[in-house]
Amino acid sequence: MPVANLGYLHISEQQAGAWKSFGVDILGLMAVERSDYSNSSFLKADDAPFRIMVSANGEDRLLASGWEMASAAAYLEILEQLTKSGVQYSNGSDAEASERCVSEFVRLQDPAGNTLEIYHGRTLPEECACDFESPQGIERFITRDMGMGHVVLPAPDIEETHNFYKEVLGFGDSDDLRLPAPAEGAPEMRVLFMHADNPRHHSLALFNGPSPVGCIHMMLEVGSIDEVGSCLDRVNAAGLPLMASLGRHCNDNMLSFYVIAPGGIAVEYGYDGLQLDWNTFTPTVSTVGDVWGHAYQAPPSE
Ligand SMILES: [Fe+2]
Repeated sequence: MPVANLGYLHISEQQAGAWKSFGVDILGLMAVERSDYSNSSFLKADDAPFRIMVSANGEDRLLASGWEMASAAAYLEILEQLTKSGVQYSNGSDAEASERCVSEFVRLQDPAGNTLEIYHGRTLPEECACDFESPQGIERFITRDMGMGHVVLPAPDIEETHNFYKEVLGFGDSDDLRLPAPAEGAPEMRVLFMHADNPRHHSLALFNGPSPVGCIHMMLEVGSIDEVGSCLDRVNAAGLPLMASLGRHCNDNMLSFYVIAPGGIAVEYGYDGLQLDWNTFTPTVSTVGDVWGHAYQAPPSE
């Protein structure tokens, strides 16, 4: 039984509260206060208890991506699959499961060293049970059974990491994007886009290079171009750096821009992403990333 969707991301930050302000004031997410876990921020995007958990752990990086299994039976199946494949994992404690609002979870690393948490059963503590109401008037994020969006992880050894997600965790191929080397002597850039067991074009992609923050980018999807444009206005008004300008991707049709969050993780904010029927889909190979736009902006020097 394959992974159902990307359920949450766990991020750490050096400057406590920076991500919460960014999430609320810029992205339009809703902060949830949890009295038992006051050292972390929890950002809600829908009726799930939260989609982003931020802990002030002294460094800026993605700590883990949380992957949902559709049922307890599917969860047990994937644990069996991990064991059969010789992949080591550890059980999350009850306290950690409660913090994540899940029934139970395991923690493991992919071959590139990215940390994953695989869970089932999202629980809903009272403090997180409020209806989603965006402080920036976002009508709704495109989530539910398709998960919170997608994440692109660094995978210098892209073949081995791709095999792991495909053969062990059951992800399917969506697109294999190959782009020319950005500089003479540098390797060709490659991004492998993979789908989980939901219609979103990709819930995961792997990039054949490193990332100092453990994440190439994460993506949130809204329902209209006006909500994308209004977010871009908020980004510009706050003077935040972009990683890429407004543009539309070829493979998933997403119209989006990329803003760099406090701490350095890039967030793609888009709408109009493709939803596909995997029974009739043939994976694609691409040599062009964008229909238009997405001009790369070098991050500002520190
Ligand atoms: Fe993306």
